[in-house]
Amino acid sequence: MKLYSQEILDDLCDDAAELDLLVSQMKDLMVGYVNEGRKPGAIVVEHKPPEELKKLIDLDLPYAGIGIPGLMPMLQNILRYSVNSWNPGFMDKLYAGTNPVGVVTEMLIALLNANSHVYHVSPVLTLMEDCVSEKLAKLLGMGERSGGITCPGGAFSNQLAMLTARNYLFPEIKTKGYCNLGKKLTVFTSSAGHYSVEKTGMALGLGLDNIIKVPCDDQGRMRPDELERLIIQSLERKETPFFINATAGTTVLGAFDPLKEIGKIAKRYNLWFHVDGSWGGSLVFSDKRKHLIEGSSLADTFVLNPHKLLGTPLQCSFILASDRRIFKQTNSLGAQYLFHEDSKYDLGDGTVGCGRRPDAIKLFIGWKIYGILGYKKRIEHAFKMAEYLTNLVKNNSKFKMVLEDPPNLQVCFWYIPEGMKILDREENENEKKYQIWKEQMALVTKEIHKRLRERGRFLFDYSPLVLNGKELPSFFRVVINAPSINEHYLDELVKEVERAGEGVLKYLEENKNFQNGLRSENHNTNGIRNMNGNGYVNYNGVLGKIGIANGNSTNNNEINDFIIANIIN
Ligand SMILES: Cc1ncc(COP(=O)(O)O)c(C=O)c1O
Repeated sequence: MKLYSQEILDDLCDDAAELDLLVSQMKDLMVGYVNEGRKPGAIVVEHKPPEELKKLIDLDLPYAGIGIPGLMPMLQNILRYSVNSWNPGFMDKLYAGTNPVGVVTEMLIALLNANSHVYHVSPVLTLMEDCVSEKLAKLLGMGERSGGITCPGGAFSNQLAMLTARNYLFPEIKTKGYCNLGKKLTVFTSSAGHYSVEKTGMALGLGLDNIIKVPCDDQGRMRPDELERLIIQSLERKETPFFINATAGTTVLGAFDPLKEIGKIAKRYNLWFHVDGSWGGSLVFSDKRKHLIEGSSLADTFVLNPHKLLGTPLQCSFILASDRRIFKQTNSLGAQYLFHEDSKYDLGDGTVGCGRRPDAIKLFIGWKIYGILGYKKRIEHAFKMAEYLTNLVKNNSKFKMVLEDPPNLQVCFWYIPEGMKILDREENENEKKYQIWKEQMALVTKEIHKRLRERGRFLFDYSPLVLNGKELPSFFRVVINAPSINEHYLDELVKEVERAGEGVLKYLEENKNFQNGLRSENHNTNGIRNMNGNGYVNYNGVLGKIGIANGNSTNNNEINDFIIANIIN
């Protein structure tokens, strides 16, 4: 076999034989990997810090190639230390593992190595992109002329949306830049919106200060009254508001901004209405859930990522417009060496890129295989599982939900270890007490997260959040997405958090006392109070931190007195 492989590799023309060999070897590797991820008790990742991992994978790039015989061990090693997203315990991000059709479609894309910038090099794939974009836009109710294209990811799609809006509304900027515009353009997005909106403001030269954050309500949704107030304020400052980004499914809590109300405000003030439905837009496939994105029909542009909720392989992101011609109309430079005719099917001309992956066919083929019914089933299953986990968490006194009834598929909660409690309303309103509690809870969450990651059985993330003006301590965000998640996994997940949480408070107290091997004698008072280099204090086993988050300074004496009076007792 070895000899045969090397011969093939040496003969650079015998691609078919080489592919035959590689694909047949890959088949076992791939199927074995998927099986591995689904074994009961399988770990999602064998977590290693970078320095350790560097010793386990061969990062040397050779002069003489390793040949096919060296390939398989290398691939095995890559799989071994990578995150196995086929494992239902992977609940870390808004995407989950893909599906077998997804893998095959990626293989097809690689096989064709087609570039979907111009029709004549990717005729079939271009028509499929055009067709599936139009179907999506029509499902969203965006009108007769609607349609779109793909972009490499949700963030880039948001960027193209804002660029398109800016070029459409202020075409002179395309040629003359901002210098002679004499206008300060402003953009509105919620405080829970994705950072790509701000990055776009940065990239387009609008300035971060001109991306105006609209406050959210206590469920993490943009407040339309605040949006209108801020637009009016911006107008009073003689600025030029031009773009509203509403989010259908926020990144952390999964909240849905009220699209209908926001859309009406956009029309009232003549602003571009963009919806970032990267995460929640896919609910359009579910009759039962699509009311959550009601108002999508009002959008000028709408972003939807099948690589998140629909399980197509990364990346697969659509930017849709009520008028599909707008991308070319606003962004084309008509580079004649590439775009020879004015063909509506040369899709690359509507973007700011050149070469493009034919990502759309991943949804096209998935849709063909599963149908709207298949996607609907997938979505319904995910909601059922999210509800199951929510109930498990709600009925366990060691946990506390961030939102009692999650609007979407993110189940967000704290684990409250023994020795800590949930603050009551009065304590919550006491700013100092709250800050201390918040710091403690954040430490607990991070430590448990570290332990969970090291065990590797489940992988889910944590996040801090400002909700309704209040800084929340970091909490766990479990994303329910993969169809392979079932009740058993979720029971296990809760148990795993409980196991990881055992003794966490004690561990943190001890660890903080001796962090960096330093016990600060200076701060040791009456044997009850120790302070480490990071400003954490330990009062008879209750951890606190001096100083308010975000670098606001605090009178330490005041806090000390408070702690001694209220916590030690
Ligand atoms: C609401 C929202 N918009 C945009 C993005 C960016 O998507 P991508 O990672 O595909 O660029 C995300 C990512 O999670 C998101 O949650």
